[in-house]
Parts: sequence; structure tokens; C-alpha cells
Amino acid sequence: MSTPSFSLVNNANGEKLDLPAVGGTLGPVGLDVGKVYDKLDVFTYDPGFSSTCSTKSAITYIDGDQGVLLYRGYPVAQLAEHCSFIEVAYLILNGELPNAAQLQAFDQSIRKHTMINESLKGFFGGFRYDAHPMAMLTGVVGSLSAFYHDTTNNKDPRHREIFAHRMIAKIPTIAAAAYKRYFGQPFMYPQNHLDYCSNLLHMMFAVPAEPYHVDPIAAKALDVLFILHADHEQNASTSTVRMAGSTGTNPYAAIASGIAALWGPAHGGANEAVLKMLEEIGDVKHVPAFMQKVKDKVDGVRLMGFGHRVYKNFDPRATIIREQCHKVLKHLGKENDPQLELAMKLEEIALSDDYFKARKLYPNVDFYSGIIYKALGIPVNMFTPMFAIARTVGWVAHWIEMVSDPTMRIARPRQVYTGAGERSVTALDKR
Ligand code: CMC
Repeated sequence: MSTPSFSLVNNANGEKLDLPAVGGTLGPVGLDVGKVYDKLDVFTYDPGFSSTCSTKSAITYIDGDQGVLLYRGYPVAQLAEHCSFIEVAYLILNGELPNAAQLQAFDQSIRKHTMINESLKGFFGGFRYDAHPMAMLTGVVGSLSAFYHDTTNNKDPRHREIFAHRMIAKIPTIAAAAYKRYFGQPFMYPQNHLDYCSNLLHMMFAVPAEPYHVDPIAAKALDVLFILHADHEQNASTSTVRMAGSTGTNPYAAIASGIAALWGPAHGGANEAVLKMLEEIGDVKHVPAFMQKVKDKVDGVRLMGFGHRVYKNFDPRATIIREQCHKVLKHLGKENDPQLELAMKLEEIALSDDYFKARKLYPNVDFYSGIIYKALGIPVNMFTPMFAIARTVGWVAHWIEMVSDPTMRIARPRQVYTGAGERSVTALDKR
């Protein structure tokens, strides 16, 4: 197939600029507009980045029309069926699935780094008792940049690797500590004989006063959810990590910026917003009135957990999670959960409604994940921290990919200025 060729023409004077195509392995090519300002004295304008690639990347591929999501070339459904989250984390970080020895070494390294510095635990006490766990997560992960001065050379592959393992290992410990702080319970130390998700559940739900046994089905469900959330190419939080990281900042600070971006309800905060919406609707009989409000855009009300910037057909993660949701609720004897019933009713109505069909709005990953989290006993304000734990793998992988690239430049977008023209300052007594 021949490479497409494009040019930009200034219609006023006929000046023409050829735009080189930047090809990848799958999906559309990118047009290199880097010289547009220099040669034609205009900017390209794309708020929200609907048509703009900010980078090349070899980590994750999405085809939004076909509902395809590949990590390093592997379909996410196959990974969810055959692999553990830690195996997928290795794949995302290193580009290939591990063999048994590589997996064991990686798993051991992650298990070894799960503890956090004792002084870091004191940071949680500085937060008000009712601080949102995402606020604590953002602050405490940012504080990690005050530790680990032994590995701050972003250009050293070994330093980057140690950062990656520390970050992935410690984020569940920090999230669990935020949970414990919220409930006023003592922090639980990690138990390194447990796998990643069992350890997280133990740190969240065990108390020192009595034994706690992790439900393997709950741990497995979490593991699958984490695989589905592990990466999603240049989404808002990953782009934030890349942008912060492009300045050469401390990588823990870059991850903290990603956590902050994830918190918003248009992104990772949607799982919490879905549950709040279900609570607000309350009963199946209120669904038609709520749907009318959504369609009339009353006060900007949206059907949370629906729609996606990239997926315009279906979200492949939602398909897997929907199935997982039914399985978990059945296992826990909660298949008649009224909120699940409500969610199914909303889904049924939305999928057959012209408003949603015309705008290609389908359930996304967050529509079901909250229902599973709730069934597992995870409180609503911990839903987004759960997403953050899983997405840490993607953030770290993207940061490493970016800083290892010798052509990396600081990300510095431009703007179309709409403010006042140049004017002179009038003295204070004359204004
Ligand atoms: N409910 C009702 N209408 C919607 C929704 C929704 N959830 N999402 C989009 N629309 C409408 C929107 O009003 C607009 O209508 P019109 O053409 O009449 O102006 C049209 O669909 C296009 O919407 P948009 O806001 O331009 O689309 P976007 O690509 O900028 O936004 C989105 C994508 C995910 C932010 C948006 O669909 C949304 O707010 N969804 C609800 C929040 C949510 O579930 N977010 C999780 C995303 S998946 C996990 C993740 O990435 O973190």
C-alpha cells in the first residue's frame, strides 16, 4: 500500500507545505505538522486532541471503531483469560510476555518492594479524617519523590527499572493506607507471600485483632479488572504523566500528576460517579425520568459510564467486565442486587435509544467496574484509587518509553490568543 501524502496550502498566496506521514504498524498514519508554524506562520488547532497524536508509542493499540484493544499486540481478552496482572505488567513494561523464570524474578522483585518508608506513613495523619483517598494518593505518591535519591538518573535504565518496580509495588500499600486512614483503622503491613491483588485486599480489609482470609474469587476478579485497566494509550492521565515527565521532573512527581488527572469524573472518577448516579436514581421506576434529563441535557446530566472518546462501537473492556460482574455477584450471592438490576435497565434503554445510538454512546469499562467493587465490599470513594493502582503500570511504561527516547523534547503546546491587544498601563490614580 502506498504511503498517503498530504500538503497544506495557503490559499491566499499558493504557498504549499508537504506534510510527511509518520507511519506505524497498525492504524492511521500521523501527519507531521511540526514545521507548519515555521514555514506557514500558522498553528494547528485541535482542543481536546481529537485528531492529534502527541507521540509515537509501541505499548498499546486501540481501534475505536472495531472495539480492539491490544497490549503489545495481544488482545486484552486473551490476556484477561490466560495471564495474571503481574504477567501483564511485565508485558506492558518490557514488550514481551515473560517466561517462567522471568515472571518469577519480576514477581519477587515487586513483592520485595511493597513496604513504604515508616516516615511516609506519618503523612497520612496530616490529612483531615474525611479526606478523599484520591487526595491522599496524589499527595503521598508525590511525596515519594522526597525519598529514593539513589535512583534519580532518568537516563540510567537500571534507575528506571528500580523506580518502576518500587512504584508498582508501593501503590497498593499507599492506596490501602488511604483507605485505613479514612476509616480510622490501623494500617496493615503488606504480606509478601500473597499475590498482588490478595495482598491489596488483605491490607484493606484485615485488622490486626483477628485473622483474615482473602476470598480467591474476589482476588481473581480484581486481578482481571486490573488487567483491563492497566493501560489505554494516550488517555488524559497518561498524557499528563508524559507531559510532566517531559520536563525531566522526578518520576514519582510525574505519576502523582497522572493520579490527579485520573480523579476527574470524565476519566477514572467515572466509576465512582456511576455508583452515585445509581444511588441517586434509586429505583427502576425512576429510570425514564432520569433518561429524559440526560437527553435534555438538564444541568449537564450525563449517563455516567457511557460514551468514550475513542470507542465508537463498543468498549472491549466493558464486554469482559460485564461477564465478570455477573460471575462475581453470583459467587457472592448478590445476583439480585437492585443496583445491578438498575444498571441493566439503564443499559437496555440506552442501547435502544436514538439519542445514544446517534452519538455512538455505549457502556464503557466504568459502567460495570463500580458494581463489582461494591460487591467486593470496596467503598465508593476507593473505586478510583483501584483504577489508579492498575493504571500505574501504564503510566510507568509510558514514562520509561518517553525518557528512553533520545529524541524526547519538552511538551510545550501553543495557543490561539484571544485576550486584549497590547495596551499601556494607566497609573492607579487614573483608573
Ligand atoms: N451521556 C449523555 N450524553 C453524552 C454522554 C453521556 N455519558 N457522553 C457524551 N454525550 C453526548 C454529548 O452531550 C455530545 O452530544 P451533542 O453532540 O448533542 O453535543 C456527544 O455525546 C459527544 O460528546 P463529547 O462530550 O463531545 O464526547 P467526548 O469524546 O469529548 O467525551 C467522555 C467522552 C467519555 C468524556 C463522555 O462520553 C462522558 O462524559 N462520559 C461519561 C463519563 C464516563 O463514563 N467516563 C469514563 C470514560 S472510560 C474510562 C476512562 O477513560 O477513564
